[in-house]
Amino acid sequence: MGDKLKSQIEYSENINRFLSTLEIDELIRRYSTPLYVIDENTLHRKVKELRDAYSSFKGKTEIAYSIKANFNPSIIVALMKDDIMFDLTAIEELYFYQRCKGDLKRIIYTTVAEEYEEYLHVLKNGVERVVISSYNGLLNLIDAARTIDVKPKTLIRINPEVGVKASIKASYRDGKFGVPLYTNTADNAMHILEHIIREENLQFDGFHFHLGSQITDPTCFINALAKLDQFITKAKDTYDIKVNTLDIGGGTPIFYGETVPTPSTIASSMIDKLNNMSYRHGITNLIVESGRYITAESMIMLSKVVNVKEYNNDKFAILDAGYHLLLDAALLKQQYPQEVIRYDKGKSNKNIHLAGRLCDTYDIFPKSKISKLDDVDINSYIVFYNVGAYSIVFNMPFHCQTKPAVVMKDSNGNLRLVRKEQKIEDLFMEEGGELL
Ligand SMILES: Cc1ncc(COP(=O)(O)O)c(C=O)c1O
Repeated sequence: MGDKLKSQIEYSENINRFLSTLEIDELIRRYSTPLYVIDENTLHRKVKELRDAYSSFKGKTEIAYSIKANFNPSIIVALMKDDIMFDLTAIEELYFYQRCKGDLKRIIYTTVAEEYEEYLHVLKNGVERVVISSYNGLLNLIDAARTIDVKPKTLIRINPEVGVKASIKASYRDGKFGVPLYTNTADNAMHILEHIIREENLQFDGFHFHLGSQITDPTCFINALAKLDQFITKAKDTYDIKVNTLDIGGGTPIFYGETVPTPSTIASSMIDKLNNMSYRHGITNLIVESGRYITAESMIMLSKVVNVKEYNNDKFAILDAGYHLLLDAALLKQQYPQEVIRYDKGKSNKNIHLAGRLCDTYDIFPKSKISKLDDVDINSYIVFYNVGAYSIVFNMPFHCQTKPAVVMKDSNGNLRLVRKEQKIEDLFMEEGGELL
């Protein structure tokens, strides 16, 4: 059985098998299923791959982990070892980061809400670099900075309004995120820049954009940089500014079912432009944010087949998991690669479908091109690969389902529980049971 599994894996380059069959058996015995497992080594490897990709940038490159992708405290702590920055979006994320003893100087804080109380809290707690996304947000940041007399480094989040090929697009005309370069209203980059420069309590630091997640074509980066370059050139005609930092956001894709560009392909498509802008505008810091690329491949989910039903040409395997554990399978039709393990019946002459345990039409797991779905039966197990980003953070109690345990395989190869399984009694009480 072990050899069979091994040979299946060796044929597929794009799934990251970091557990031996023995380890899987041991984990299932100890924690049952569904179960998530994180591999610490993969986290460090992914950071290195991103760093290496941008190594020919002539200034300093910082990788910033977007903790929205997976805020498991053990992941945050593991990534601190890589001396990276952290991209935070909410004061609740800041709470997690502080509880993990994160260095506040290593934060870039980009909020969508931009409330005065939020900025006050963030600045009081020692965050030094903030990204502004609206004129009202700027006024709130100024008020907060004046109230406690600090001078945060301030970046402007622009919406370059470029076309993006991605699973999730964040830059489009009249969009929610950032401000356009030019408008007739107060919400434009030039107007905000002018205010930041005039404000005693802010230090202008640079520009940020985030174009989307799972970006499959790097052209959008080149187009966004071209627009920003023109804008900076124009701004320098009027204002005496120095752009220290350029933050190109996240979006580096990972393999689910389609071939995607690697970080080095994406980086090399824009590195000349980045170096040219760095030279002409004095940009010394490049920030590359990433959530998905750093965590997705670091995590698998183990699930058990609890029922099967067969029709003429199809066989359905009902799992003990569902989209309450892998929401993007339903929401984005994300094709997490899957594999049948611990069952040795070989190929099936039927089409195998993996369905979740929820009483919901959308609870069917799309198959990746590299899924290894041999025959299945009750008590076979399914491994879902590349589930480390934007899935566990959406765990929800639909059908009163509890959150499964999470185990981490650390860099020394030790398997350690990093999140306990939620108990049904705890869920009942949280949902209002304690108020009965
Ligand atoms: C501002 C910002 N930066 C970075 C990211 C991370 O994107 P990804 O996980 O695709 O790298 C996001 C994701 O939504 C984001 O909103």
